Parts: sequence; C-alpha cells; structure tokens
Amino acid sequence: MSNDLKILCGDAIQKMREFNSRSVDLIIADPPYNLGKDYGNGSDSKSFEEYIQFTKEWTKEATRILKKSGTIYVFMGFRFISYLYQILEKENSLNFVNWICWHYTQGIGKKKGFSPRHDDILMFTNSENFTFNLDSIRVPQKYYRSRNNMRGANPGDVWGFSHIHYCQDNRQDHPTQKPEGLIERMVLVSSNEGDLVVDPFSGSGTTLRVCQQLNRNGIGIELNEDYVKMTSKRLSEKFTGFDSIDPRMERVPNDLNDVGIREEYLANHLEWFLKNHNGAKDVFFAEVEKKYGTRLKHSSKLSNNKSLFDE
Ligand SMILES: C[S@@+](CC[C@H](N)C(=O)[O-])C[C@H]1O[C@@H](n2cnc3c(N)ncnc32)[C@H](O)[C@@H]1O
Repeated sequence: MSNDLKILCGDAIQKMREFNSRSVDLIIADPPYNLGKDYGNGSDSKSFEEYIQFTKEWTKEATRILKKSGTIYVFMGFRFISYLYQILEKENSLNFVNWICWHYTQGIGKKKGFSPRHDDILMFTNSENFTFNLDSIRVPQKYYRSRNNMRGANPGDVWGFSHIHYCQDNRQDHPTQKPEGLIERMVLVSSNEGDLVVDPFSGSGTTLRVCQQLNRNGIGIELNEDYVKMTSKRLSEKFTGFDSIDPRMERVPNDLNDVGIREEYLANHLEWFLKNHNGAKDVFFAEVEKKYGTRLKHSSKLSNNKSLFDE
C-alpha cells in the first residue's frame, strides 16, 4: 500500500498549529478524559478550569484544519461530555450529527449506583455537506425479507465493541487502547481512500493502524515518546485482521430458504461485512452451519461462490 502515515511526537495544539487550514478530511480525537489515568505525562489530572481551557484550545485548532466536507469524532467520559458538546457547537460553530454511545460489557463495578458500561462519542461536521459512505458500514439484517435491503442496515448510534483484552495478541501496553473495529467504522464512513485522517491524541496508534489497512493517509500526534515508538512497531507488524468487531457483523439472517439466494448472499456477506475480519469468519461459518446445515470452506478466495462451498 502506498498511503502516507506519520506519527508526530509533541503537543496536539502546537502541532496542529503547523497544519494548513481546511486540509484534513477526518479527525478522530480520543483526548484524556481527565479522570486521572497515567499516560506518563500528568495530562489526565488537570483542574476543571485547565481542562476546559485545554479543550477549547485543541478543538479550535481541529476546527481550523478540518475541510468544509470534513468530520470530527471526539471520545469523552461522563465528567466533561456536556461541556464538550457546548464547546463544539457554540464555540466552534460545528454542525451536530450524532451522539454515539459506545457500549461495552466489561468495566469497573460500582457498589452504589449503576456500573458504567459506555463511553460517549460526539460526531460533528464542518457543514451539512459531509462525506457519509453508508454502504461501507452497514450491518447484516436479522431476516431475509424482500422489503429489507440485504446489503445491510444502518448500524444506529449505539455501537457494541469489546475492549481489547490483556490476553489478546495485539493488546498494546497502553491504558486506554481503543478497538480497531470501532475506528474502522468511522474511517470507512467518513473518509475515502487517499483522504487525510488526523488523530491528535493517538496513544498506541489505533487510528494509524486502521488507516494503514484502509488506504487512507494518516497523521497521529502523541505527547509520550514511548507511545510513539509503540505505534511505529505496531505499524510494522503483519496484519491478520482487525482486533475487534461489532457482533452483529457475524449474524446470519433468518429465512434465507432459497438455495440460490442463500449462496449468493453468504458469499456477499464475507465481502461486505467480514473483509478485514479474518478472526470472525469461524464464528460466521459455525452460525451458517447451525442455521442452514450448509458447510462453508474456509478458503482465502471467499469472494467466489464456487470456492466457498464444500463440494
Ligand atoms: C485516551 S488516550 C488515546 C488512546 C488511543 N485512542 C488508542 O487507541 O491507543 C489519550 C492519549 O493522549 C496523549 N496526550 C495527552 N495530552 C496530549 C497532548 N497535549 N498532545 C498530544 N497527546 C496528548 C496521552 O499520552 C494518551 O496517550
């Protein structure tokens, strides 16, 4: 792949000041939530006023460098989400599109009150005319019906992705590594091949890893030099599939009773939904067999119906 990927070591605000205005197609920002995590630089333990000021400054630069057709996603925890919304809408005059709930099943338990099981992600754009490639991020339908679009459904604004567990191969030594499958959805829907994606708080390099595989140009900015080195190493590793997936991508629609239609659909399913997810194919094959008694061959040439089914 010939896409250009860079990781810059330094402060996000200062580095973004060096970018040309209106030069970036997509910004994926996962700043410290100010909850006291240890990123080796004290960046997550600011006073309330300091954190608000920091948020105003970095969002101002991000808005300046974003193209008119561009999109910004910002991850945030409960303490500052309402302030962040105001800053993006009122101070930066951005266009609100979605308040996404990233739902996960594991996390710290609470004895009084409900255990938190989601983070919020705000999606704003620079105008109402923004890139949105819906077909690239659809999720499989639950049922085969003539009225359903079998290319898939809109995934909605509640996204279920597990955290990357400590025992997973590509778990990095970073306290808040995000799932590649989640970032993949943002990159696919809000940019095109060859576009420029910027991650101002790039941490372990998840966004750059996803850009590398999806043929986007990417620039990451990270304050901690060790995480910069971690990212370079991560980018040099062999790709075996993204580390996470929305479980709906593995589901096989009910009522695919016509054999011809079923064979065509199942081959398409692999191309449409599981293209960068080799690890999910076994679950999908098992589900097909359970539902339809059809055995699928685990071949690398899965886009061709003939090579897909056992003779
Ligand atoms: C929530 S983490 C990002 C995690 C990342 N999305 C991933 O998947 O690994 C925030 C990162 O921002 C970095 N950081 C904090 N303040 C910064 C600043 N002013 N400029 C650039 N990076 C900063 C921290 O060192 C930390 O790695």
